[in-house]
Amino acid sequence: MSRGKYYLTTPIYYPSDKLHIGHTYTTVAADALARFKRAAGYDVMFLTGTDEHGQKIEKVAQEKGLKPKEYLDGMIEDIKKLWATMEISYDQFIRTTDEDHEKRVQAIAQKMYDKGDIYKGHYEGWYCTPCESFWTEAQLSDGCCPDCGRPVEKTQEEAYFFKLSKYQDRLRDLLSNGEFLLPESRAKEMISNFIDPGLDDLCITRTSFDWGIKAPFDEKHIIYVWLDALSNYITALGYPDSPEKYEKFWPADVHLVGKEIVRFHTIIWPAMLMSLEQPLPKMVFGHGWLLFDGGKMSKSKGNVVDPVVLIERYGVDALKYFLLREYSFGHDGNFNNEVLLNRLNSDLANDLGNLVSRTVAMVLKYNGGVLELPKVKTEFDDSLSELAVSTGAAVEERMDRLDFGNALESIWKVVRRTNKYIDETMPWVLAKDEDQKDKLNSVLYNLSESIRIISVMIKPFMPHTAAKIWDQLGIVEGESTTWESAATFGIIKEGTKVKKAPPLFPRIDVSKELDALSAATAQEDEEEASEPYKPEITLDDFEKLDLRVAEIVKAEKHPKADKLLVLQLKLGQETRQIVSGIAKDFKCEDLIGKKIVIIANLKPVKLRGVESNGMLLAADDAQGIGLVTVDVADGSLVR
Ligand code: MSP
Repeated sequence: MSRGKYYLTTPIYYPSDKLHIGHTYTTVAADALARFKRAAGYDVMFLTGTDEHGQKIEKVAQEKGLKPKEYLDGMIEDIKKLWATMEISYDQFIRTTDEDHEKRVQAIAQKMYDKGDIYKGHYEGWYCTPCESFWTEAQLSDGCCPDCGRPVEKTQEEAYFFKLSKYQDRLRDLLSNGEFLLPESRAKEMISNFIDPGLDDLCITRTSFDWGIKAPFDEKHIIYVWLDALSNYITALGYPDSPEKYEKFWPADVHLVGKEIVRFHTIIWPAMLMSLEQPLPKMVFGHGWLLFDGGKMSKSKGNVVDPVVLIERYGVDALKYFLLREYSFGHDGNFNNEVLLNRLNSDLANDLGNLVSRTVAMVLKYNGGVLELPKVKTEFDDSLSELAVSTGAAVEERMDRLDFGNALESIWKVVRRTNKYIDETMPWVLAKDEDQKDKLNSVLYNLSESIRIISVMIKPFMPHTAAKIWDQLGIVEGESTTWESAATFGIIKEGTKVKKAPPLFPRIDVSKELDALSAATAQEDEEEASEPYKPEITLDDFEKLDLRVAEIVKAEKHPKADKLLVLQLKLGQETRQIVSGIAKDFKCEDLIGKKIVIIANLKPVKLRGVESNGMLLAADDAQGIGLVTVDVADGSLVR
């Protein structure tokens, strides 16, 4: 019988880059929760998807010489492949470029507009002409465009605004109720950082780019990506035109999100729903980040961890277990290969793997592989069975708080208790005495039964491992593997036959494996580093470039920007100045005398007030920037 509905969501991912292990973290957690709720008897709807509009996507596609949709289709295929590899059990995958979603977002915006919650105003920002991008003051880097380092101009554009300020008081109440946003510390942060200083109305349209959904009340305007993206949680259910699924599943039981997007989900999103007069999600959980050596993982830092490499080496169950067990979901945690390998060895190979293989080996050795119902009791039986049957409820209570780490820890308490039961009962001693045969068989049964309960409880986290254990214990999936069956001791039937199998988790030689792992990662990086080629050009296109050899005669720091150097160059008889963003990688004195290649006919620009007459050629990889140098006379043409 169903215990009711349960609707959970992950954020929808930006397909602007390959997803790394940090992204998979939210989804792995959501998957375990979805599987757990299904097992516990809920009618689950698990939604994930991709956030495909906006300037960034438009730009990435353009750089690759593709139309946005062409680029996106390839990326989405990869993301779906990754979720298939990770065995993510989502029920629906929404793309914000789905026609239904686009139409529904327009209906949502129109409703908010009709209500009088959207009005026309002016958006003020900094504009980078070459990149066609708007930036806020805070986004600028040294006062320049954070993307290209060029100067920006203060600009205004006509835009529509959502009356976020109108919902300020209701949002404060919501955030203070102790249930809506977890962990609670994040709710306090939202109130003191955003509600207390007073909410500004939110700019919700742009006219500076095209890749997005048109505002229905003014087609010159594109709807702001966050309004588009947040709506996915209800458009996926058919809101507003196809209410059946919506009425069944909305409001969401939980939105799982990373901490940096909590603000959007707990201020903008509920305010949108208030404007639409719809119920609010029951809970938003803002989880911490997986850090790498203390910093955020990012492709530009070259520290991204590819989950596929780890799955290939250790299996999907091991990776999922590690992510959920090692880190406390609400807090940041440092990812590190050594911590991963040690955890796999201690919890999976030693504690769980050994328990199963020792038990199966003893049943085979001492009773021909056959389990018999207990005929006698040992003094250790009650404490074992009591702990085993009571743990399911503890797991359930922890899962409801999204406390994955402690849910797993409570299961591992049973694993360790069962291992201890072997030491306490010493089956190898009982086996030496024919009179102890019944006691020995009872012990073997209790061990197997305890493992059965463990396997039922780990199934939402590690479905393959659970299935492998059932196979070894001779159990068929069914009555003896339901979630409820974990609350009863003594379900395995008389005469059940166990089966020997390879170890569930082979022990890892940590130091050897660390080397192998870095070699595998380096190879991946190399394969990945190859950028796709740009679209074809003709010789005439190339001839337009005036490439020259120039000798650097002077180099100094830019007076206003840390990233820039001002270089004086000699090109034959001529001298000229260029400004270049290489300050991080080169010392001024090391550059003198280098013969570099520059584009000599590039239109001059001022970079933070200093004129630049050309651009040098360079290439970069994870180690840094390398200049293109040649050993011929300065002033020579490069062709
Ligand atoms: N598209 C928006 C979400 C819109 S939801 C209506 C977005 N996408 S994202 O791809 O940048 O991030 C998606 C999720 O991945 C976020 O929850 C984010 O916190 C998570 N992670 C990305 N890197 C992460 C880590 N290193 N660690 C943990 N999670 C992180 O934001």
